[in-house]
Amino acid sequence: MSVQMMSTLNAGSTIPKWQMALLLGTPVAIGLGYYMYKKKSNKIDGSVDSKKKYFDLKSASLSSIDGSENEKDIDRKKKLAELEGEKLTPLKEAQIHKNDGNVCYRQGKFDEAIKFYDKAIEKCPKENKTDLAIFYQNRAAAYEMLKKWNQVKADCTKSLEYNPRYTKAYFRRAKAYEATNDLLDCLDDVTATCILEIFQNNTTIMFADRILKQTGSDDAISGMKNRVPVFPSKHFTKTYFRSFVSDTLRNMKLENIEDSKGFIKARLAWDDDRFDDVISACTEEIELSEGESQYKVEATLLRGTFNLLRGCFEEAKQDLDLVINNADADVKLRVNAYLKRASLYVQTEKRDLVFKDFDEAEKLDPNNADVYYQRAQIYLLLDQVDKALVEFDKVCKLAPEHGMAFVQKVYAEYRLAFMSQDQMRLLSVMNEFKNAIDKFPNCVECYSLMAQVLTDQGQYDSADSFFEKAIKMAPENAALYVHRGIMHLQWNGDIEKALSLIKKSIEIDEKCELAYETLGTIEVQRGNLERAIELFEEAIKLAKGQTEMAHLYALRNAARAQINVTRKLGIDMSAITSLVQAGITPPQ
Ligand SMILES: *[C@@H]1O[C@H](CO)[C@@H](O)[C@H](O)[C@H]1NC(C)=O
Ligand SMILES: *[C@@H]1O[C@H](CO)[C@@H](O)[C@H](O)[C@H]1NC(C)=O
Ligand SMILES: *[C@@H]1O[C@H](CO)[C@@H](O)[C@H](O)[C@H]1NC(C)=O
Ligand SMILES: *[C@@H]1O[C@H](CO)[C@@H](O)[C@H](O)[C@H]1NC(C)=O
Repeated sequence: MSVQMMSTLNAGSTIPKWQMALLLGTPVAIGLGYYMYKKKSNKIDGSVDSKKKYFDLKSASLSSIDGSENEKDIDRKKKLAELEGEKLTPLKEAQIHKNDGNVCYRQGKFDEAIKFYDKAIEKCPKENKTDLAIFYQNRAAAYEMLKKWNQVKADCTKSLEYNPRYTKAYFRRAKAYEATNDLLDCLDDVTATCILEIFQNNTTIMFADRILKQTGSDDAISGMKNRVPVFPSKHFTKTYFRSFVSDTLRNMKLENIEDSKGFIKARLAWDDDRFDDVISACTEEIELSEGESQYKVEATLLRGTFNLLRGCFEEAKQDLDLVINNADADVKLRVNAYLKRASLYVQTEKRDLVFKDFDEAEKLDPNNADVYYQRAQIYLLLDQVDKALVEFDKVCKLAPEHGMAFVQKVYAEYRLAFMSQDQMRLLSVMNEFKNAIDKFPNCVECYSLMAQVLTDQGQYDSADSFFEKAIKMAPENAALYVHRGIMHLQWNGDIEKALSLIKKSIEIDEKCELAYETLGTIEVQRGNLERAIELFEEAIKLAKGQTEMAHLYALRNAARAQINVTRKLGIDMSAITSLVQAGITPPQ
């Protein structure tokens, strides 16, 4: 996700990626993708309760240490036993030690607590497994307070040997793994916690989400280094350039077309979608001597642009820097280079530099609509819809004929109205959409965003007819099929219909990353985790930047962790998903 890439994605996929992320449940990157399946049925209660019990086991107590509820009882028994001279069973003796340990723990005397838990463990018969699990877990809690992470891990592991479905022990070990930066192990354990809690505890889900994102970012750093450059599809590239209000490179008139070498050759190759040739022809122009070359700056900018498009960020940056630092170059070209470099910074996670380039571009050419349009995309990406709206307003004043900007502005207004649940405002925004369509009947985004909004509001019938119109206008836009497929899932959970639409999108554009990502999410949901991983890895190869790659790696890692955990626990993941489908509302 990213500036122009973002608008590419937007444009390419028509629906902003940030919104896609919401649809696919980024806040719960756990990868179950429940959002698709959220059903309004409420037939469940009884069955869910019983299944919940099945997973719940020994985690009833809310405190970090377990087994405090019958302490008074045991105290009394101890006194009674003393009075009667009765001999305590080893288990009872162990429980007494544990209770003493718990008292120390609550008083903050962790070293002493550990000594009592030691005794409890020593005394406890091996066959009283549940008790032993508690004693180890409690000792782990005390070690945790002392930040002795290796002991925490070892005790939790022991605890889990005695009670393999002890939620609290998984959670505690997950925290210890996080503390020592063993993130994949942490991920396995926090996933186990989520599954045992059937995804009902927000705290755990947010923890899982954080760890997933961290592992995703880590993987993306090496992923970017090893990435094989790949040009996006023709359609994607076309929409990318269309997202510029005034693209100097695209619109410039060329002289001597018949003299086909250097930049002119590059332009012709570009017209024919021969992207490899674009780069080599630009290089030809750039290597000409000053006297011979008529289009050196243009060639540099174009080569930078195509390197950006295929994810060769270092090469792209060199060219863009050259154009930006060339004070003699045409202002339009320098502004264009600034905007592309800003996009590059977004894709390579150098967020602090992004807005500086926009400011410089604005200073150079304050009436250039592209500056505001591209900046709006960034704000959308950062979910700062109000700021995006201000930018879109400027674009619409400077370039009233740009339909894409106009309808995106309306869409931003819609988001704001939706977030504030302002019914009056929503109503007037819906009218704005109709205006947009009247005003720009040939702009496919008007139809696709309208479809998206109707989907949001549960008006699936009308949404479908708008998707149909959009697809008729832009049959080569693969992402539209994916979005329509997702809509069908939301509508009535029609998996077959969704799959056939998404497969169609891959037929149209085998580089449709969104299709692989969505298919992967569906397979996770169906419990086909191995297949899901293959699909996510397919998508990773097509990722346009680091952020996007990190998101995809996070999804893949979620699936991997689920495989590990379901194997370990002997749980069938589809049992969990069916619970979710049965109507347990996932946290949003
Ligand atoms: C949710 O998880 C947190 C962290 O493990 C725990 O402290 C809390 O008690 C849990 N809440 C419920 C309702 O289980
Ligand atoms: C402890 O183990 C013994 C021997 O197996 C068993 O008889 C007893 O019921 C167990 N006690 C508890 C509380 O589980
Ligand atoms: C989880 O958090 C969401 C909002 O963040 C809230 O609406 C929901 O009630 C919470 N669920 C639970 C079980 O605490
Ligand atoms: C899952 O298990 C594999 C093999 O044991 C391990 O390498 C990996 O770290 C585990 N967890 C994740 C999240 O990949």
